[in-house]
Amino acid sequence: MTYARIAGTGSHLPERVLTNAELETLVDTSDEWIAERTGIRQRHIAAPGETTADLAEQAARKAMAAAGVEAAEIDLIVLGTTTPDLIFPSTACLVQARLGANGCAAFDVNAACSGFLYALSVANQFVRGGVARCALVIGAETLSRMLDWSDRSTCVLFGDGAGAVVLKPDAETGILSTHLHADGAYRHLLYNPVGVSAGFRDEKNHGVRVMMTGNDVFKVAVKTLDAVVEETLAANGLPKSAIDWLIPHQANLRIIAATARRLEMPMERVVVTVDRHGNTSAASVPLALDEAVRSGRVRRGDMLLLEAFGGGFTWGSALLRF
Ligand code: UT7
Repeated sequence: MTYARIAGTGSHLPERVLTNAELETLVDTSDEWIAERTGIRQRHIAAPGETTADLAEQAARKAMAAAGVEAAEIDLIVLGTTTPDLIFPSTACLVQARLGANGCAAFDVNAACSGFLYALSVANQFVRGGVARCALVIGAETLSRMLDWSDRSTCVLFGDGAGAVVLKPDAETGILSTHLHADGAYRHLLYNPVGVSAGFRDEKNHGVRVMMTGNDVFKVAVKTLDAVVEETLAANGLPKSAIDWLIPHQANLRIIAATARRLEMPMERVVVTVDRHGNTSAASVPLALDEAVRSGRVRRGDMLLLEAFGGGFTWGSALLRF
């Protein structure tokens, strides 16, 4: 049996930090409201001209260095994003050219905030099946470009960043299972109303922006994440106590705490970055993973449960031995 195992992790955040206090000067909000309802205290924002591919490239280089792999060894790049640099070529292709990994398969996956879990799951199949021997999996976003900065219900929530992992075959352990789901019936609760085929302005003449019915998203997210973590444990015949670390999507501290409660995990075993990163969509899980690895909290051999939920709705999980 061949597993896909994470050989190295990396991440990158834009330099500019936007605090809740600064947001108080932009919209009718308060540090207290944002921190209490979401857990967010600050987020990173890409500089003018700094793109998703820029962030992804930096994260990828760090993951490759950590894994000790050269560009020539990479035979697959899967990149989760909902904020690509261009409509085409894919951001995966842009990153591939910069890394000099030319010739290998490279493509984007759009599953909104679940994008990294979807990308990881796809790459896992390639590696397990023997089709790829060195896969680069990236989650990268510049959600700040998609926000209506006069809408307090969304602009305080998101941030920019990128995270990446290198997957290599391992005879002993690695990714044990992945579980992906989607339900397009919920598309109206979290979406961007414009695009190529639908037109770049909506009927109200609005351009690109995030539309969210936050409260409804919250309720479905908690219920759905509860179900997917139960599904993951059942599929592997494992008790809750087998998980060393929960590495959740970083949308809201209250959602993260609810999942931790369901798993009977103390918050000390949950990786939390939402306070400093905000919701970086597809980048949030690999950013949290890399931070936990580099700080020495997550160690080789630990059992990790990764999960995410986002627009679509999409949701998913991965259980892996690091
Ligand atoms: O990553 C993709 C998945 N996304 C999520 O998982 C997000 C899920 N949803 C959430 O995290 C929460 O629903 C939010 C953080 C978005 C909102 O928190 P909430 O506790 O559900 O608040 P709410 O939407 O019910 O709004 C409560 C009040 C409203 O005022 P009224 O009607 O009670 O007077 C809002 O207008 O808070 C008001 N409000 C704000 N006040 C200050 C909304 N945004 C703000 C704000 N500052 N930024």
